Amino acid sequence: MSKRAIVTGITGQDGSYLAELLLEHGYEVVGAARRLSAPNHWRIEHLLDRIELRPADLLDQLSLIRLVDDVRPHEIYNLAAMSFVPASWDQPILTGEYNSLGVTRMLEAVRHVDTSIKVYQASSSEMFGKVRETPQNELTPFYPRSPYGVSKVFAHYITVNYRESYDMFAVSGILFNHESPRRGLEFVTRKVTDGVARIKAGQAETLSLGNLDARRDWGFAGDYVRAIWSMLQQERADDYVIATGTSHSVRDLVETAFSHAGLDWRDHVRTDPALMRPAEVEHLIGDPSRAKAELGWRPSVDFPGLVRMMVDADVERVARGLADAAGTAGMGAAGR
Ligand code: NAP
Ligand code: GDD
Repeated sequence: MSKRAIVTGITGQDGSYLAELLLEHGYEVVGAARRLSAPNHWRIEHLLDRIELRPADLLDQLSLIRLVDDVRPHEIYNLAAMSFVPASWDQPILTGEYNSLGVTRMLEAVRHVDTSIKVYQASSSEMFGKVRETPQNELTPFYPRSPYGVSKVFAHYITVNYRESYDMFAVSGILFNHESPRRGLEFVTRKVTDGVARIKAGQAETLSLGNLDARRDWGFAGDYVRAIWSMLQQERADDYVIATGTSHSVRDLVETAFSHAGLDWRDHVRTDPALMRPAEVEHLIGDPSRAKAELGWRPSVDFPGLVRMMVDADVERVARGLADAAGTAGMGAAGR
């Protein structure tokens, strides 16, 4: 009998890669999507005849209970969230509603319907914030630096708490930044690779960025969804750090992306103080030893390979004149 999984956030970057992986493993995939006035399906267009979409919103408890009760999945991957850090300063309360209470609503739905359903919660390296040790592992204390980070700490611990209170198989993956050609345009990697493609095509001259000194542990989203799936296949529910174990600065990112397109970044990149954050996370680098040892997980794409993949995809998209396929989608939030 094939397994059934619910994926919230299926229209997002990770949801689309995870849906592909689950289909490869023979799952029936039900994607939960909130109603929008215009569909936002560009990442899952190629999957629409193989998945089922159902309406549900993290703000609406009954919609989640109905979803879980109707589908009766074996596994739930709760990826939906307000995921753009700067927007969390603009809308801290809504961020908490989605990212903290929304997760609690999902856990409550599972508790109400069937506690044997396995749950994955999308935790974040942003929880480490002003880091207490380097590199960060599963035991590193949290010190979030944004309303987003704070909201994810709540979500992390409520997941741990439901596991311990109700004996549920509920796990949190503490994922470091992961990117792809499907990344939203407001995140720095995609903002840079899209900028490179537009400059290369003569559609733009300059690219404005914020803090070039910030460092992140960047991996490929396609690799990270393998780790997510693997966490729910273990005997025992536990939390795992997923990271490459290497970090680079935004300046390294810019240099690598522009030079791959034959451009000198110094001719095009400007820094704009308005793009600096009220409180910055300066340096994240993860220690994925537990995931390597227990999940057998390894990343397959390194930093230069990831940047080249994203530049090539954007150069091709811009050359084909596809401003809308991943171009205008996701541009709602200001680009900090
Ligand atoms: P993403 O591309 O921004 O996707 C977010 C998804 O959440 C979208 O499908 C969005 O739907 C959905 N969503 C937002 N609010 C919702 C609501 N109220 N009800 C239902 N759905 C809602 O994010 P991602 O990069 O795939 O990340 C997936 C998860 O991992 C998020 O929880 C994120 O915080 C976390 N995470 C990401 C990273 C990373 O580097 N990518 C690292 C650590 C943790 P719409 O299409 O309707 O907007
Ligand atoms: N977005 C953006 N835009 N970031 C910039 C810019 C810019 O113009 N210039 C510099 N940066 C710096 C930011 O200050 C930050 O230090 C770094 O680039 C990465 O920013 P983002 O790509 O926006 O990602 P993030 O690290 O804030 O958050 C992402 O990773 C988290 C995991 O650590 C998101 O995917 C979160 O949802 C995720 O939890």
